[in-house]
Amino acid sequence: MSNSEHSTQSPSRAHQTVLILDFGSQYTQLIARRVRENRVYCEVEPYDLPPEEIAVRAPIGIILSGGPQSVYDPDAAVISRDVLEMGIPVLGICYGMQLIAHLLGGRVQPAADSEHGREYGRADITIRKPSPLFSGLDSGGETVWMSHGDLVRDLPSGFESIASSISAPCAGFESAERRIYGIQFHPEVSHTVSGGEMLRNFLYDVCGARSDWGMASYLEEAVANVRAQAAEGRVLCALSGGVDSSVVAALLRRAVGERLAAVFVDTGLLRKGERNQVAHSLGEGLGIPILVADAQERFLAALAEVEDPEEKRRIIGHQFVEVFEEEAEKLSGARFLAQGTLYPDVIESTSVKGPSAVIKTHHNVGGLPERLGFELIEPLRYLFKDEVRQLGRELALPEELIGRHPFPGPGLAVRILGAVDREKVALLQQADAIFLEELRDAELYDRVSQAFAVLLPVKTVGVMGDFRTYEDVIALRSVETSDFMTADWSHLPYEFLGRVANRIVNEIAGVNRVVYDITSKPPATIEWE
Ligand code: XMP
Repeated sequence: MSNSEHSTQSPSRAHQTVLILDFGSQYTQLIARRVRENRVYCEVEPYDLPPEEIAVRAPIGIILSGGPQSVYDPDAAVISRDVLEMGIPVLGICYGMQLIAHLLGGRVQPAADSEHGREYGRADITIRKPSPLFSGLDSGGETVWMSHGDLVRDLPSGFESIASSISAPCAGFESAERRIYGIQFHPEVSHTVSGGEMLRNFLYDVCGARSDWGMASYLEEAVANVRAQAAEGRVLCALSGGVDSSVVAALLRRAVGERLAAVFVDTGLLRKGERNQVAHSLGEGLGIPILVADAQERFLAALAEVEDPEEKRRIIGHQFVEVFEEEAEKLSGARFLAQGTLYPDVIESTSVKGPSAVIKTHHNVGGLPERLGFELIEPLRYLFKDEVRQLGRELALPEELIGRHPFPGPGLAVRILGAVDREKVALLQQADAIFLEELRDAELYDRVSQAFAVLLPVKTVGVMGDFRTYEDVIALRSVETSDFMTADWSHLPYEFLGRVANRIVNEIAGVNRVVYDITSKPPATIEWE
């Protein structure tokens, strides 16, 4: 289903919109986030969006992303020249620039065939000509991030070179008259020191952006849209205790009031105290009526002696749907289901690269609407995570909830390696709570992206007092990441780690060893299962 057909309305109808055509660059989403940070709404679409569809959307500007190909590849991702003839300002980045040159009669050359060679990583460019893209940059040179194999060799007629580097005689070009710009480097990457200004210049000076995108106005529109979509009938939402579902619930509460029913499934696989926390901050704090389905026994029984991670995920997903269905049946007139789908999920599902290989089956409530005949409401469908947090602030959600680390749907079941039972859950909850409490006390919690404890399926020998012990091992994991697709392990201070390990071993009977995970993703994943 394309975005435009989806019943949750795209904000592009109410806001000036920039279209980003995706040629498969790893940085495409980053371009979109940078545009949004400039208070300009944008959408990412596959590169082959037909020109007629582009015309209907009436974007104020088009950005052509980078991509892994060469314009001369037999199956290169190519767009119609018409896109460049529509009178809409265009910025081509890397492959996008080469494609502009190629389509308009310039010449692109593999760097290997030139005397200059390929260029990856930091590079210095010299600004050759004042250009709107560079306005406000006072230096004659800039440090930028390059990642290209091909180069623009000859400019299309009517274009002028605006920058060069040692490896790229033409590192940027423009046709001011046609409002078409190309840059060989990546302005969206933070290593391009003035990249933010260049994008801003394109948006404001070239496209005439008005800065009309922000979460305060979005909230009003989203509330109005939800009211229009769900004018009557009950709206269900599954609360997980995480940021996304909490923001959805708070928004729905504002839009449909008492017609919202939030269901919280206590799987027994939650962090310590989580159920109370959700009841407190969302129930009492925001007045959202929460139906708690206590399904602890049921999940544990279904998981008994199951060791395989994917099998555990499958069982949990299945149980979740069943429990949710039972709760829904108790409520009369439930017609809608609200979900916290985010924009990166939408982009991934329509991405030119196709769905990425499944490494782990991510459990969500995606199977529910079809089975129960619900109509979907997805008020976060066009938002990035940082925007969801901002929206949460507009909705006056507590900061503690907004800044919460993500927690996987299958919960502690994928952090207890091997078979899950009640005792192991209790033990892991304690260890995890100690780790998180210490992180908060040391003011490290908000500086890392996700931190948790894992219970390993091995026992090791230790000594306590004069006695030999043979007990469990807890692994601590903490990562820093912006998108959870790749991540670095956190360089937590040794003293801090020592303190956490001491507390875990001293306070939890049955644990005699603590280890810290120092692998990044890739090659490891963030969770251990
Ligand atoms: P991995 O382990 O794949 O995790 O590097 C990336 C992010 O996704 C979360 N995660 C899950 N979330 N269901 C979820 O809802 C799952 O099955 C699942 N597995 C991993 C993980 O916590 C991290 O934030």
